[in-house]
Amino acid sequence: MADFSFQALANCSETKARVGVFYTPHGVVETPRFMPVGTLANVKTITPKQLQETGAQMVLSNTYHLHLQPGESIVGQAGGLHAFMGWQGPMLTDSGGFQVFSLSQMRKISEAGVVFRSPHGGEIINFTPELSIQIQNILGADVIMAFDECPPYPATRGEVQAACDRTYRWLERCIVAHNRPDQALFGIVQGGVHLDLRATAAEALAALNLPGYAIGGVSVGEPPELIAKIVAATTPLLPLDKPRYLMGVGTYREMAQAIASGIDLFDCVIPTRLARHGAALVQGERWNLKNAQFRADFTPLDATCPCYACQNFTRAYISHLVRSQEILAYTLLSIHNITELVGFTQKIRDSILSDRFATDFEDWLAPTDNS
Ligand code: GUN
Ligand code: ZN
Repeated sequence: MADFSFQALANCSETKARVGVFYTPHGVVETPRFMPVGTLANVKTITPKQLQETGAQMVLSNTYHLHLQPGESIVGQAGGLHAFMGWQGPMLTDSGGFQVFSLSQMRKISEAGVVFRSPHGGEIINFTPELSIQIQNILGADVIMAFDECPPYPATRGEVQAACDRTYRWLERCIVAHNRPDQALFGIVQGGVHLDLRATAAEALAALNLPGYAIGGVSVGEPPELIAKIVAATTPLLPLDKPRYLMGVGTYREMAQAIASGIDLFDCVIPTRLARHGAALVQGERWNLKNAQFRADFTPLDATCPCYACQNFTRAYISHLVRSQEILAYTLLSIHNITELVGFTQKIRDSILSDRFATDFEDWLAPTDNS
């Protein structure tokens, strides 16, 4: 694991927020940082060059999707995911655990793994911790994720407990199956909304001395204000000298609050999905570019944004492209939205470095509920 290290460079004096550097075989990730999602070995509608210009440093892809199409053998023959998709920077693959549960039909979960029907050919697929790791070893991302069981919300405490126990046993199998020292295997803490189950899982995983840790099973339908509580109860039990990744979270408030608890990495489909719905993220707001107000608005989306879309095009033009369903609309909005969210985490990083995070981001850190 000499290929990987995480160094905390600065700590916030008022919160548990930290600035770090995560070294991987394909380069450095400056944390806290948002990671865009490239499910099928591409970030939808943009090129790797455009992606790099957004400030994104690490990209996520999905074992489940790539196994179904084009299959890991093709990616392996191409020389791995980096060569196949033309992204030479740090990369992470999710294990398929979450996607099998959320996307596939007729799935059957047992101690062995998950059996489901391929949504493509209809054939039976038997996903196990060993198969997930074997596929991820072939795909060759810098960081690979353990095959986990993400319990639904709501679920009984007993069901969540059973998913935690199984996730731990599956992690032990993942560790045995993993055979590439140039890839870092991250464990995933489950536990639903039960803070004591989260704590027990985090302590058990921390004892395994993994190169990094993720918090999974959030943003699955529970009230959003619970996310910050789950993260706050879990991160203190994870090692200080390892990166911490909050899976599937990418809204401003949830990221700011999670960073205040010591989270380093995020991923979410929000920026690219919103783009494909014709929406822009602008300084904390969501704008629908189809709205009449943008039809003859000849200013940039965000005059302070350094992205290619804001430097070269107007709201009126992007509104026209969205109304006409031109593919360029989705490209420009994806470039902007990713730049915006990566930029948000970069601004937080800068503010932690100058120890102004708690005041600069006071509005985002304030709880929204009455608890
Ligand atoms: N992505 C978002 N949440 C999860 C999770 O709980 N597990 C995995 N493997 N991926 C996720
Ligand atoms: Zn922009």
